[in-house]
Amino acid sequence: MIFTVAIDGPAAAGKGTISKAVAQDYGLAHLDTGLLYRAVGWRVLQGEAPVAAATALEAGDLSHDDRLRTPEVAQAASEVAVLPEVREKLLDFQRNFARRDGGAVLDGRDIGTVICPDADVKLFVTASAEARAERRFLELEAKGIGVSRAQVLADVQARDARDSSRDAAPMVAAEDAVTIDTTNMSIEAALDRVREIIGLKLQA
Ligand code: C5P
Repeated sequence: MIFTVAIDGPAAAGKGTISKAVAQDYGLAHLDTGLLYRAVGWRVLQGEAPVAAATALEAGDLSHDDRLRTPEVAQAASEVAVLPEVREKLLDFQRNFARRDGGAVLDGRDIGTVICPDADVKLFVTASAEARAERRFLELEAKGIGVSRAQVLADVQARDARDSSRDAAPMVAAEDAVTIDTTNMSIEAALDRVREIIGLKLQA
């Protein structure tokens, strides 16, 4: 069975939590495509050129969650993600992952529009910048990363602006995506809605 779920949306809207739960519930493989851009961004911060960094990317680069999930790497990721040549280098890996036997869920910014335009289910998970910044602030605080709320909000807004205004694969809901706004929604309620959408598709 090849069943693909595409989940897009801005940072800290709940994509990651929803993707992991969907993968677990339906036995699908999961790819957090943001990690690819973060790994390229991390290499660039170490001094590599962006396209060379994307070309040199190895599976092991993705397994350093701690060093990839910092605010500095998030900004670097969104800066390299503007470059069409970098996106091109990461395309085949993502498309092959999406086509794996048994099905897959991919989350990112351009999954429903560019990577998997034929995905079986497309979701666009969003929330207000303030709600997302508060969630990200609490996550970073729990990890002991010292940043202010104001700084996290400014970072989220800067990334949103860069991700949605770039020419190459901008962050936008696919025309046939279902939008889920989690600003005032619990994660359980969001998951109920997602399971309902996927259940209907699987029945069809
Ligand atoms: O999802 P995450 O916040 O980890 O993504 C980091 C950055 O990677 C995003 O701000 C975006 O610029 C880029 N990205 C992208 N396309 C994707 C996934 C992430 O451009 N499919």
